[in-house]
Amino acid sequence: SIGQGTVMANLHSKPLCYVHYKGIKFPPGYNSVENLCFAENEFEVQDDDIFNVTYPKSGTVWMIEILSLILNGGNPSWNQSVLNSCRAPWFTTQLGLEAAHLLPPPRLLTCHLPIHIFPKAFFSSKAKVVYTLRDPRDVLVSYYHFSKMCVPFENPESFNHFLESFLSGDVPFGSWFDHVTGWMKLKGKSNLLFISYEELKQDLFGIVERLCHFLGKELDEAAITSVVENTSFEAMRRNDMCNSTMLPKEFMDQEKGTFLRKGICGDWKTHFTVAQSEYFDKVYQEKMEGLKGIFPWEHT
Ligand code: A3P
Repeated sequence: SIGQGTVMANLHSKPLCYVHYKGIKFPPGYNSVENLCFAENEFEVQDDDIFNVTYPKSGTVWMIEILSLILNGGNPSWNQSVLNSCRAPWFTTQLGLEAAHLLPPPRLLTCHLPIHIFPKAFFSSKAKVVYTLRDPRDVLVSYYHFSKMCVPFENPESFNHFLESFLSGDVPFGSWFDHVTGWMKLKGKSNLLFISYEELKQDLFGIVERLCHFLGKELDEAAITSVVENTSFEAMRRNDMCNSTMLPKEFMDQEKGTFLRKGICGDWKTHFTVAQSEYFDKVYQEKMEGLKGIFPWEHT
């Protein structure tokens, strides 16, 4: 198996050489073609698996905290004592796969996979997917800052350059538009739940209730309140098991940013020029044809 040391050693080979698999580029270090191919074709899905699926920067780590707490009836001890990557492993990597194999059921599993690479076994299982999505303009801003601090990601040349790359889909994990439209094709299936970052911000209690119902794990009001309190931005910032400060500095350079950065909706407004905003809207209108009007950020 590939140990942490090997992964870090690989990261030092500059310039960055992304891993390419089925038209998508993945950051080097933890990802390999072999592991991605295994995740797609051979990963054994269990009927009680719960997949936390997102495009990067859409609320992945937030949802890990929420789901971990729900599975524990609102008791925060697991969230506070075990790293998020062990509670909801990234099964598309070797280390994550090993962690996934150690988890008792029901397993929480995390990935950023677009639908065309998602484990084939899922589609004939009863496993569930929670897909969290976010205003792509806020995703872009968050991704831009994250790329500066996360070592396996190319350092953005400029905000405008990053915006161009994002809109053309030339970023790790591929195009936001393809990711979202691909997954949205499954909307309506009973084992998929779509949640937006904006809804989480607006009504966390209500969304936790909805998630409990979806997972068949009904919690009382006190337990839901505990989930809400322990997954606030401030509580998560204080929790070293999810705030990324435990990650090796060869992977995450804490001097170049903060993973739990702002945690708000609409930060794009402080980054986009009028011209960039108009350009973004134009591309959005073209790419989201057919799906327009259903997302919360389109109504603000
Ligand atoms: P910002 O960079 O806009 O602050 P991911 O986990 O998919 O990488 O997403 C990270 C984004 O989710 C970051 O956005 C982070 O601050 C935000 N986030 C994580 N936990 C949050 C919480 N409890 N409340 C609000 N935002 C949160």
